[in-house]
Amino acid sequence: MTQSLTLRRPDDWHLHLRDGAMLEGILPETTRHFARAIVMPNLVPPVVTARQAADYRDRILRAMPEGATFTPLMTLYLTEDTDPEDVMAAAGSGLAAAVKLYPAGATTNSNSGVRDFDKVRPVLEAMADIGLPLCVHGEVTDPTVDIFDREAVFIDRVLDRIRRKTPGLRVVMEHVTTQEGVAYVRSADEGLAATITTHHLILNRNHILVGGIKPHYYCLPVAKRELHRLALREAATSGDARFFLGTDSAPHIDALKEHACGCAGCFTATNTMSILAEVFEDMGRLDRLEGFTSLNGAAFYGMAPNEATITLRKGDPVTYPAKILTGAGPVTVFDPGMPLHWHVEP
Ligand code: DOR
Ligand code: ZN
Repeated sequence: MTQSLTLRRPDDWHLHLRDGAMLEGILPETTRHFARAIVMPNLVPPVVTARQAADYRDRILRAMPEGATFTPLMTLYLTEDTDPEDVMAAAGSGLAAAVKLYPAGATTNSNSGVRDFDKVRPVLEAMADIGLPLCVHGEVTDPTVDIFDREAVFIDRVLDRIRRKTPGLRVVMEHVTTQEGVAYVRSADEGLAATITTHHLILNRNHILVGGIKPHYYCLPVAKRELHRLALREAATSGDARFFLGTDSAPHIDALKEHACGCAGCFTATNTMSILAEVFEDMGRLDRLEGFTSLNGAAFYGMAPNEATITLRKGDPVTYPAKILTGAGPVTVFDPGMPLHWHVEP
Protein backbone atom coordinates (compact mmCIF):
# COMPACT_ATOMS: atom_id res chain seq x y z
CA MET A 1 0.00 0.00 0.00
CA THR A 2 1.28 3.45 -0.90
CA GLN A 3 2.39 5.35 2.20
CA SER A 4 4.15 8.25 0.57
CA LEU A 5 3.50 10.19 -2.57
CA THR A 6 5.67 12.91 -4.11
CA LEU A 7 3.97 15.22 -6.57
CA ARG A 8 4.97 18.24 -8.50
CA ARG A 9 3.80 21.22 -6.51
CA PRO A 10 0.08 21.73 -7.18
CA ASP A 11 -1.65 24.76 -8.68
CA ASP A 12 -5.13 26.03 -7.91
CA TRP A 13 -6.89 27.03 -11.13
CA HIS A 14 -9.75 28.86 -9.38
CA LEU A 15 -9.23 30.72 -6.12
CA HIS A 16 -10.70 33.66 -4.19
CA LEU A 17 -8.06 35.62 -2.30
CA ARG A 18 -10.19 38.70 -1.46
CA ASP A 19 -8.43 41.86 -0.30
CA GLY A 20 -7.22 43.76 2.77
CA ALA A 21 -7.26 41.97 6.13
CA MET A 22 -8.97 38.90 4.69
CA LEU A 23 -6.30 38.55 1.97
CA GLU A 24 -3.56 38.88 4.57
CA GLY A 25 -5.18 36.29 6.82
CA ILE A 26 -5.93 33.60 4.25
CA LEU A 27 -3.11 33.93 1.71
CA PRO A 28 -0.71 31.69 3.72
CA GLU A 29 -3.30 28.90 3.57
CA THR A 30 -2.77 28.73 -0.19
CA THR A 31 0.93 29.57 -0.45
CA ARG A 32 1.80 26.73 1.98
CA HIS A 33 1.08 24.03 -0.63
CA PHE A 34 0.32 25.71 -3.95
CA ALA A 35 2.75 27.23 -6.43
CA ARG A 36 0.29 29.22 -8.54
CA ALA A 37 -3.38 30.11 -8.57
CA ILE A 38 -5.84 31.69 -10.93
CA VAL A 39 -7.12 34.55 -8.79
CA MET A 40 -10.79 35.47 -9.13
CA PRO A 41 -11.60 39.14 -9.82
CA ASN A 42 -14.93 39.44 -7.96
CA LEU A 43 -13.82 42.10 -5.51
CA VAL A 44 -15.93 45.15 -4.71
CA PRO A 45 -15.43 46.98 -7.05
CA PRO A 46 -14.49 44.20 -9.46
CA VAL A 47 -11.08 43.84 -11.12
CA VAL A 48 -12.10 44.88 -14.63
CA THR A 49 -9.14 46.66 -16.19
CA ALA A 50 -5.48 45.81 -16.66
CA ARG A 51 -4.63 48.67 -14.30
CA GLN A 52 -6.87 47.26 -11.57
CA ALA A 53 -5.42 43.76 -12.06
CA ALA A 54 -1.86 45.10 -11.77
CA ASP A 55 -2.75 46.95 -8.57
CA TYR A 56 -4.48 43.86 -7.13
CA ARG A 57 -1.47 41.71 -7.98
CA ASP A 58 0.76 44.18 -6.13
CA ARG A 59 -1.46 43.97 -3.05
CA ILE A 60 -1.30 40.16 -3.16
CA LEU A 61 2.48 40.21 -3.49
CA ARG A 62 2.76 42.62 -0.57
CA ALA A 63 0.64 40.25 1.57
CA MET A 64 2.83 37.20 0.83
CA PRO A 65 4.18 35.41 3.88
CA GLU A 66 7.94 35.49 4.40
CA GLY A 67 9.73 33.00 2.16
CA ALA A 68 6.68 32.03 0.08
CA THR A 69 7.22 31.23 -3.57
CA PHE A 70 3.78 31.71 -5.02
CA THR A 71 2.67 33.29 -8.27
CA PRO A 72 -0.79 34.82 -8.49
CA LEU A 73 -2.20 34.49 -12.01
CA MET A 74 -4.54 37.39 -12.57
CA THR A 75 -7.94 37.46 -14.25
CA LEU A 76 -10.06 40.28 -15.60
CA TYR A 77 -13.75 40.50 -14.73
CA LEU A 78 -15.69 40.65 -17.99
CA THR A 79 -18.33 43.40 -18.23
CA GLU A 80 -20.43 44.60 -21.12
CA ASP A 81 -18.12 47.63 -21.29
CA THR A 82 -14.83 45.74 -21.27
CA ASP A 83 -12.45 47.17 -23.87
CA PRO A 84 -10.91 44.44 -26.08
CA GLU A 85 -7.75 46.54 -26.42
CA ASP A 86 -7.27 46.62 -22.66
CA VAL A 87 -7.71 42.83 -22.47
CA MET A 88 -5.19 42.35 -25.27
CA ALA A 89 -2.68 44.58 -23.53
CA ALA A 90 -3.15 42.74 -20.21
CA ALA A 91 -2.67 39.38 -21.91
CA GLY A 92 0.23 40.57 -24.05
CA SER A 93 2.21 41.83 -21.08
CA GLY A 94 1.69 38.52 -19.25
CA LEU A 95 -0.42 40.19 -16.55
CA ALA A 96 -3.74 38.46 -17.28
CA ALA A 97 -3.89 34.68 -17.56
CA ALA A 98 -7.64 34.58 -18.24
CA VAL A 99 -10.88 36.54 -18.36
CA LYS A 100 -13.75 35.64 -16.05
CA LEU A 101 -17.36 35.59 -17.18
CA TYR A 102 -20.00 35.97 -14.49
CA PRO A 103 -23.58 36.06 -15.69
CA ALA A 104 -24.96 39.14 -13.87
CA GLY A 105 -26.46 38.11 -10.55
CA ALA A 106 -25.22 34.51 -10.61
CA THR A 107 -23.12 34.65 -7.46
CA THR A 108 -21.11 36.76 -4.98
CA ASN A 109 -20.31 40.21 -6.40
CA SER A 110 -21.49 39.37 -9.90
CA ASN A 111 -23.73 42.39 -10.41
CA SER A 112 -21.32 43.95 -12.90
CA GLY A 113 -21.33 40.74 -14.94
CA VAL A 114 -22.83 40.07 -18.34
CA ARG A 115 -26.57 40.26 -19.15
CA ASP A 116 -26.42 40.33 -22.93
CA PHE A 117 -23.80 37.89 -24.17
CA ASP A 118 -23.75 39.46 -27.64
CA LYS A 119 -22.31 42.63 -26.12
CA VAL A 120 -19.06 40.85 -25.22
CA ARG A 121 -18.54 39.24 -28.63
CA PRO A 122 -15.70 41.57 -29.67
CA VAL A 123 -13.79 40.70 -26.50
CA LEU A 124 -14.39 36.97 -26.95
CA GLU A 125 -13.25 37.12 -30.57
CA ALA A 126 -10.07 38.93 -29.62
CA MET A 127 -9.44 36.32 -26.92
CA ALA A 128 -9.96 33.48 -29.39
CA ASP A 129 -7.40 35.09 -31.71
CA ILE A 130 -4.68 35.04 -29.08
CA GLY A 131 -5.76 31.90 -27.16
CA LEU A 132 -6.58 33.69 -23.90
CA PRO A 133 -8.87 31.39 -21.86
CA LEU A 134 -12.35 32.40 -20.73
CA CYS A 135 -13.23 31.11 -17.26
CA VAL A 136 -16.99 30.71 -17.01
CA HIS A 137 -19.32 30.69 -14.03
CA GLY A 138 -21.82 28.42 -15.74
CA GLU A 139 -25.21 29.10 -14.23
CA VAL A 140 -28.23 30.86 -15.70
CA THR A 141 -29.86 33.50 -13.54
CA ASP A 142 -33.40 33.15 -14.93
CA PRO A 143 -35.54 33.13 -11.76
CA THR A 144 -37.85 30.53 -13.28
CA VAL A 145 -35.01 27.98 -13.51
CA ASP A 146 -34.59 25.80 -10.43
CA ILE A 147 -31.27 26.43 -8.70
CA PHE A 148 -30.30 22.76 -9.08
CA ASP A 149 -30.82 22.97 -12.86
CA ARG A 150 -28.99 26.22 -13.51
CA GLU A 151 -25.74 24.67 -14.70
CA ALA A 152 -27.33 22.22 -17.13
CA VAL A 153 -29.57 24.96 -18.57
CA PHE A 154 -26.59 27.31 -18.92
CA ILE A 155 -24.79 24.78 -21.09
CA ASP A 156 -27.74 24.54 -23.49
CA ARG A 157 -28.83 28.14 -23.55
CA VAL A 158 -25.57 30.05 -23.25
CA LEU A 159 -22.29 28.17 -23.25
CA ASP A 160 -22.82 26.02 -26.29
CA ARG A 161 -23.96 29.07 -28.29
CA ILE A 162 -20.95 31.11 -27.22
CA ARG A 163 -18.61 28.31 -28.24
CA ARG A 164 -20.29 27.80 -31.61
CA LYS A 165 -20.24 31.52 -32.40
CA THR A 166 -16.61 31.92 -31.38
CA PRO A 167 -14.65 29.02 -32.81
CA GLY A 168 -11.24 28.70 -31.24
CA LEU A 169 -12.27 30.30 -27.94
CA ARG A 170 -10.62 28.41 -25.08
CA VAL A 171 -13.11 27.90 -22.26
CA VAL A 172 -12.82 26.61 -18.72
CA MET A 173 -16.14 25.58 -17.19
CA GLU A 174 -15.43 26.54 -13.64
CA HIS A 175 -16.47 24.39 -10.70
CA VAL A 176 -18.45 21.91 -12.73
CA THR A 177 -21.08 20.25 -10.52
CA THR A 178 -23.22 18.01 -12.72
CA GLN A 179 -23.18 14.87 -14.80
CA GLU A 180 -24.32 17.09 -17.70
CA GLY A 181 -21.35 19.41 -17.23
CA VAL A 182 -18.92 16.49 -17.21
CA ALA A 183 -20.54 15.02 -20.33
CA TYR A 184 -20.41 18.38 -22.12
CA VAL A 185 -16.69 18.75 -21.46
CA ARG A 186 -16.07 15.20 -22.67
CA SER A 187 -18.08 15.85 -25.84
CA ALA A 188 -15.91 18.75 -26.99
CA ASP A 189 -13.16 18.21 -29.53
CA GLU A 190 -10.81 20.82 -28.14
CA GLY A 191 -10.56 24.10 -26.34
CA LEU A 192 -12.81 23.09 -23.45
CA ALA A 193 -11.82 22.02 -19.95
CA ALA A 194 -13.36 22.12 -16.48
CA THR A 195 -12.19 22.76 -12.98
CA ILE A 196 -13.57 20.65 -10.15
CA THR A 197 -13.57 21.83 -6.55
CA THR A 198 -12.52 19.82 -3.54
CA HIS A 199 -15.85 20.28 -1.78
CA HIS A 200 -17.96 19.10 -4.73
CA LEU A 201 -16.09 15.78 -4.55
CA ILE A 202 -17.29 15.44 -0.94
CA LEU A 203 -20.74 17.03 -0.77
CA ASN A 204 -24.13 16.22 -2.14
CA ARG A 205 -27.19 18.29 -1.36
CA ASN A 206 -28.20 16.11 1.57
CA HIS A 207 -25.05 17.17 3.36
CA ILE A 208 -26.28 20.77 3.24
CA LEU A 209 -29.84 20.14 4.32
CA VAL A 210 -30.39 16.90 6.23
CA GLY A 211 -30.35 17.12 10.02
CA GLY A 212 -30.23 20.92 10.07
CA ILE A 213 -28.94 23.49 7.61
CA LYS A 214 -25.14 23.61 7.27
CA PRO A 215 -24.19 27.08 6.11
CA HIS A 216 -20.52 26.18 5.68
CA TYR A 217 -21.53 23.65 3.01
CA TYR A 218 -23.44 26.23 0.99
CA CYS A 219 -21.65 27.38 -2.12
CA LEU A 220 -22.44 28.21 -5.73
CA PRO A 221 -23.03 26.30 -7.85
CA VAL A 222 -24.81 24.50 -5.03
CA ALA A 223 -23.92 20.83 -4.47
CA LYS A 224 -26.30 18.53 -6.36
CA ARG A 225 -27.63 14.96 -6.02
CA GLU A 226 -25.32 12.08 -5.18
CA LEU A 227 -25.21 10.84 -8.78
CA HIS A 228 -23.61 14.14 -9.78
CA ARG A 229 -21.02 13.91 -7.02
CA LEU A 230 -20.14 10.43 -8.25
CA ALA A 231 -19.78 11.74 -11.81
CA LEU A 232 -17.39 14.42 -10.55
CA ARG A 233 -15.29 11.90 -8.62
CA GLU A 234 -15.09 9.74 -11.71
CA ALA A 235 -14.08 12.69 -13.92
CA ALA A 236 -11.49 14.05 -11.47
CA THR A 237 -9.81 10.68 -11.05
CA SER A 238 -10.22 9.50 -14.65
CA GLY A 239 -6.88 10.78 -15.90
CA ASP A 240 -8.71 12.84 -18.57
CA ALA A 241 -6.54 15.96 -18.83
CA ARG A 242 -9.56 18.18 -19.44
CA PHE A 243 -10.39 18.02 -15.71
CA PHE A 244 -8.22 19.75 -13.14
CA LEU A 245 -8.30 21.27 -9.68
CA GLY A 246 -9.85 24.67 -9.08
CA THR A 247 -10.70 24.75 -5.39
CA ASP A 248 -12.99 27.79 -5.55
CA SER A 249 -11.85 28.22 -1.97
CA ALA A 250 -14.01 31.22 -1.06
CA PRO A 251 -13.58 32.67 2.41
CA HIS A 252 -16.36 34.56 4.14
CA ILE A 253 -16.26 35.47 7.82
CA ASP A 254 -18.41 33.25 10.03
CA ALA A 255 -20.80 36.10 10.81
CA LEU A 256 -21.74 36.25 7.13
CA LYS A 257 -21.95 32.47 6.66
CA GLU A 258 -24.00 31.82 9.81
CA HIS A 259 -26.60 34.38 8.85
CA ALA A 260 -30.25 34.57 7.84
CA CYS A 261 -29.03 35.22 4.28
CA GLY A 262 -25.71 33.41 4.32
CA CYS A 263 -22.96 33.94 1.75
CA ALA A 264 -21.99 31.20 -0.71
CA GLY A 265 -18.53 29.69 -0.43
CA CYS A 266 -16.54 26.84 1.10
CA PHE A 267 -13.07 27.60 2.42
CA THR A 268 -10.88 24.64 1.47
CA ALA A 269 -7.43 26.15 0.90
CA THR A 270 -6.09 24.80 4.20
CA ASN A 271 -6.87 21.09 3.85
CA THR A 272 -7.49 20.57 0.13
CA MET A 273 -4.46 18.38 -0.58
CA SER A 274 -5.21 16.02 2.34
CA ILE A 275 -8.84 15.74 1.27
CA LEU A 276 -7.96 15.07 -2.36
CA ALA A 277 -5.46 12.37 -1.44
CA GLU A 278 -8.20 10.67 0.59
CA VAL A 279 -10.64 10.86 -2.35
CA PHE A 280 -8.15 9.58 -4.92
CA GLU A 281 -7.08 6.77 -2.60
CA ASP A 282 -10.70 5.83 -2.02
CA MET A 283 -11.17 5.64 -5.81
CA GLY A 284 -8.05 3.47 -6.12
CA ARG A 285 -6.44 6.17 -8.26
CA LEU A 286 -3.77 7.83 -6.16
CA ASP A 287 -1.49 7.60 -9.18
CA ARG A 288 -3.72 10.15 -10.95
CA LEU A 289 -3.67 12.79 -8.23
CA GLU A 290 -0.65 14.54 -9.71
CA GLY A 291 -2.33 14.92 -13.09
CA PHE A 292 -5.37 16.51 -11.48
CA THR A 293 -3.54 18.90 -9.15
CA SER A 294 -0.25 19.60 -10.88
CA LEU A 295 -0.20 18.77 -14.61
CA ASN A 296 -3.52 19.05 -16.44
CA GLY A 297 -4.29 22.66 -15.59
CA ALA A 298 -0.83 23.89 -16.48
CA ALA A 299 -1.07 22.09 -19.82
CA PHE A 300 -4.42 23.72 -20.61
CA TYR A 301 -3.07 27.17 -19.74
CA GLY A 302 0.07 26.52 -21.79
CA MET A 303 2.38 26.73 -18.80
CA ALA A 304 5.14 24.39 -17.69
CA PRO A 305 4.40 22.25 -14.63
CA ASN A 306 6.18 23.27 -11.44
CA GLU A 307 9.67 21.90 -10.85
CA ALA A 308 9.32 21.91 -7.06
CA THR A 309 7.52 19.04 -5.33
CA ILE A 310 5.48 18.28 -2.24
CA THR A 311 5.29 14.97 -0.43
CA LEU A 312 2.17 13.47 1.06
CA ARG A 313 2.67 10.88 3.77
CA LYS A 314 0.04 8.56 5.17
CA GLY A 315 -0.22 8.19 8.92
CA ASP A 316 -2.41 8.90 11.92
CA PRO A 317 -5.29 11.26 11.20
CA VAL A 318 -4.08 14.78 10.52
CA THR A 319 -5.92 17.67 12.09
CA TYR A 320 -6.37 21.14 10.71
CA PRO A 321 -7.51 24.25 12.54
CA ALA A 322 -11.30 24.56 12.63
CA LYS A 323 -10.99 28.25 11.83
CA ILE A 324 -8.47 30.67 10.39
CA LEU A 325 -8.47 33.85 12.44
CA THR A 326 -8.09 36.79 10.10
CA GLY A 327 -8.11 40.51 10.80
CA ALA A 328 -11.52 40.60 9.10
CA GLY A 329 -12.92 37.88 11.39
CA PRO A 330 -12.83 34.09 11.75
CA VAL A 331 -13.19 31.88 8.66
CA THR A 332 -14.33 28.28 9.12
CA VAL A 333 -12.19 25.67 7.38
CA PHE A 334 -14.17 23.14 5.32
CA ASP A 335 -14.97 20.00 7.33
CA PRO A 336 -14.93 16.97 5.00
CA GLY A 337 -16.74 14.89 7.61
CA MET A 338 -14.19 12.09 7.54
CA PRO A 339 -10.75 11.48 8.99
CA LEU A 340 -7.84 12.60 6.82
CA HIS A 341 -4.70 10.48 6.89
CA TRP A 342 -2.46 12.22 4.36
CA HIS A 343 -0.04 14.74 5.83
CA VAL A 344 1.46 17.27 3.46
CA GLU A 345 5.16 17.96 3.77
CA PRO A 346 5.91 21.19 1.95
O1 DOR B 1 -19.56 29.62 -3.56
C1 DOR B 1 -19.10 30.53 -4.21
N1 DOR B 1 -18.42 31.56 -3.64
N2 DOR B 1 -19.29 30.53 -5.52
C2 DOR B 1 -18.94 31.56 -6.29
O2 DOR B 1 -19.17 31.50 -7.47
C3 DOR B 1 -18.36 32.78 -5.70
C4 DOR B 1 -17.71 32.50 -4.43
C5 DOR B 1 -17.39 33.75 -3.64
O3 DOR B 1 -16.81 34.68 -4.21
O4 DOR B 1 -17.73 33.80 -2.46
ZN1 ZN C 1 -15.37 31.06 -7.48
